[in-house]
Amino acid sequence: MMSILVRDLALGELEVVAEIYGASFDEPYPEPVTASLLRTPGAWCQLAIDTEAGIPLGFVIGRVILDESEILSVGTVPASRRKGVATALMNAASERAISLGAKTLHLEVGEDNPGAVALYKRLEFRATGRRPNYYRRANRRRVAAILMTRHLTTSNKIQ
Ligand SMILES: CC(C)(COP(=O)(O)OP(=O)(O)OC[C@H]1O[C@@H](n2cnc3c(N)ncnc32)[C@H](O)[C@@H]1OP(=O)(O)O)[C@@H](O)C(=O)NCCC(=O)NCCS
Repeated sequence: MMSILVRDLALGELEVVAEIYGASFDEPYPEPVTASLLRTPGAWCQLAIDTEAGIPLGFVIGRVILDESEILSVGTVPASRRKGVATALMNAASERAISLGAKTLHLEVGEDNPGAVALYKRLEFRATGRRPNYYRRANRRRVAAILMTRHLTTSNKIQ
């Protein structure tokens, strides 16, 4: 069984995120945006690593503002999906947000992404709104975003 460790992104490891992003998302990796975002107060990036093989499996980027937090991006490399990587990342991100003072965790997810919606529902996120035509996909199709929120408590870590 794969053993997953979640740790902070180290200095100079942004290209690891770029690689996972490139493998996970259809859209181009927003490198300048990500680099400047991670320099802002309250933002962080965590990596999931396969401790035996020593290879990166996924990443999560989050941000805290006062007592609210948000997930800006989460992705797992295709070969390691459905093995609990994103669950481990989301749990670690929730713990980080709690430690930084957050009471709620928000995210946006495309209506055309039922896998991610299923993941978030399993992690006790609840839909709180919908933004029509929010994303534009590679084929130029417009897709609505579902807004989801999880109330953070120290005890709601889901396995
Ligand atoms: C969505 C994503 C992050 C899930 O990562 P993952 O590491 O496979 O997720 P987990 O293994 O922790 O999944 C936990 C549970 O979430 C649900 N889930 C995850 N992916 C699913 C899918 N494709 N279809 C249905 N349910 C899914 C299942 O309940 C799963 O448990 P199970 O495997 O025991 O059935 C991954 O598919 C991904 O990187 N997709 C591309 C990028 C993306 O869409 N990011 C989210 C943008 S908002």
